[in-house]
Amino acid sequence: MFSFLCSSLGKKYLMALTGLGLIGFVIAHLIGNLQVFAGPEAINSYAQTLKDLGPLLWVARGGLIVLFVTHLTLALQLNRTNQMARPIAYAKADTIKATLTSRTMVLSGLLILLYVIYHLLHFTIHIIDPSYTALLDAQGRHDVYQMIIAGFSHPVITTTYLLAMFVLAAHLHHGASSVFQTLGLNNGKYRPITSLIGPALAFLVFVGYGSIPVGVMLGWIN
Ligand code: HEM
Repeated sequence: MFSFLCSSLGKKYLMALTGLGLIGFVIAHLIGNLQVFAGPEAINSYAQTLKDLGPLLWVARGGLIVLFVTHLTLALQLNRTNQMARPIAYAKADTIKATLTSRTMVLSGLLILLYVIYHLLHFTIHIIDPSYTALLDAQGRHDVYQMIIAGFSHPVITTTYLLAMFVLAAHLHHGASSVFQTLGLNNGKYRPITSLIGPALAFLVFVGYGSIPVGVMLGWIN
């Protein structure tokens, strides 16, 4: 088992599984955040419910960190193996394409890591704007609704988020088809369905997450 996980194929499987776990988080977080369109009560009570999970929340956070670190480490290892295994002077067009795609995925993955660090400093640790910590609603809960409005009232922050959502959407577009390729579902009768999932996911992530900063800018969330 251990030697399988250390092989290139094992690493690809593990990348696909950790990628699926991260996609699960991205979708769950999106559904949670879209509650901002239902008003302050919905999003603030949702955030409070998560906080009230206490130790369970830390278990979920730990799981998320393990998924992220495993996914990134394997990506860097597989990318290095790819480069070392390339035939002399890039003889085949297919190899050039595979190496370029793999490099683009590593680059977009690293940009997503930078975004997540920025996002945590912004909305979770409040280092970017410490005044967010004092935002409380009438029931004494953290006022996530007002924090989102304050956060996206700055055009530079809104633009940064929209660019990050574009990079995330592009990463998931290709990542989803890689997952199906690894799991052997990218051919035959499954192909018409699996080939749609990457573009659909990218659209959902870009339009879904993007609608929040755009909604604040346009006054739909106020
Ligand atoms: C418009 C887009 C987004 C909005 C409005 C948003 C909103 C938020 C808010 C309000 C929190 C803090 C919750 C709290 O402390 O009460 C949070 C935490 C977080 N967000 Fe986002 N988010 C967005 C996009 C993303 C994306 C695309 C990712 C991942 C790629 C992400 C990953 C996280 C993580 C990892 C946390 C920390 C969760 C925790 O505290 O355990 N977010 N987000």
